[in-house]
Amino acid sequence: MQRPARHDSARTRISKTSADLLSLSLWRNMTLQTASIHRKDLFLGACRGEALPRVPVWMMRQAGRYLPEYREIRAKHAFLEVCKTPQLAVEVSLQPFRRLGVDAVIVFSDILIPAEAMGLPLELGDAGPNLPNPVRSKADVDRLKIFDPELETGFLPETIRRIVKSVGPEVPVLGFAGAPWTLACYMVEGKAKEGFATVKNFLYHEPNTFRELLHRIAQASIPYLQAQIAAGATAVQLFDTWCGELNLQDYEDFALPAVQEITAALGGSVPVIYYTKASQHLLPAVARSGANVLSIDWRVDLAEVRKMLGPKIALQGNVDPAVLLGPAEKIRDVTIATICSLAGRGHILNLGHGILQNTPVENAQIFIETGQRALIQHVRPVAQAR
Ligand code: CP3
Repeated sequence: MQRPARHDSARTRISKTSADLLSLSLWRNMTLQTASIHRKDLFLGACRGEALPRVPVWMMRQAGRYLPEYREIRAKHAFLEVCKTPQLAVEVSLQPFRRLGVDAVIVFSDILIPAEAMGLPLELGDAGPNLPNPVRSKADVDRLKIFDPELETGFLPETIRRIVKSVGPEVPVLGFAGAPWTLACYMVEGKAKEGFATVKNFLYHEPNTFRELLHRIAQASIPYLQAQIAAGATAVQLFDTWCGELNLQDYEDFALPAVQEITAALGGSVPVIYYTKASQHLLPAVARSGANVLSIDWRVDLAEVRKMLGPKIALQGNVDPAVLLGPAEKIRDVTIATICSLAGRGHILNLGHGILQNTPVENAQIFIETGQRALIQHVRPVAQAR
């Protein structure tokens, strides 16, 4: 197993306010190597809501342009070429593990890869994604293919198999897909920055066709995720970046059933993490998605979410990615306060959305190390932990 480089000089300090919230001590004399629990057990334990010595931590979009070694590869290879070439995708997926020692490796890919495999040509240039033949009618929906993931997107399971082989059995490897609603937004709008008028127009004028679109995306996503699980993914994450654009009723009528279709089909084979952004108004419905872990953005207090949803559902998040642009002391304080808010139970520490491109690498390192060195003291019995 590869050991990531560690910088043991960084020291974590807890602000007075944070320390008041929970008895939480610092991991100064221990290193990860001496800890008795390895990363995969830690990660799976957190998904199950168990009491653990520390929280696992990784970052959404952890492989990306804030890393000089990523930019070096991208200078020579186009984004989709990196996604579709296992040798390159493995290398890029492992970069944050080597440099920052994150507790999970997410496979390098994109949520739009299945859209292309369903039959929509895809361009991913500097201006963001572009789908020149968007879905606008029933005929367009009917043309979408339920593809064989090993045949059409074999590079992805192959990348996962190689990552698993490289990191060994003690490191969790994460697969992912876009949630049907968020993928539908791109497939209908064609571009990321066009707002949501076209997709909402479609949804309100042709609700049954739109439901058929979501159903078809769910049906294509199931074997796609199963192939990632068969290749060795420890858990899978569904990204629903745009669900917050929906009101509660439309979320429940359209987006939620398609997510439930996926979680039901996966049948608990591995934990499912469900990322939703700007979803405060949807949370009790989001909790019925069938996911084991809800990944939440920074606009809500995790303690409030736990109070609302109870201890059975684990939470991931939710440090504001912009905080990683701030000074070291601020990053440490916010990270510790976030851990304290859930008392370290049923919690995978992460950002509330992907890491920003202009984040200094040292700041990402401070976030990861602060999370890993905060040793949880489980002073409260399980029954009382909410
Ligand atoms: O987390 C990881 O490190 C794994 C890789 C990953 C990428 N995209 C790589 C990527 C993951 C999990 C995604 C998910 C994704 N892709 C989402 C959901 C999460 C989110 O961020 O909201 C969405 C909406 C997309 C679609 C997408 N891909 C957009 C809108 C863009 C352009 C904007 C941008 O950030 O550049 C992409 C491109 C993309 N996907 C990049 C990366 C590293 C940047 C490409 C580059 O190197 O130039």
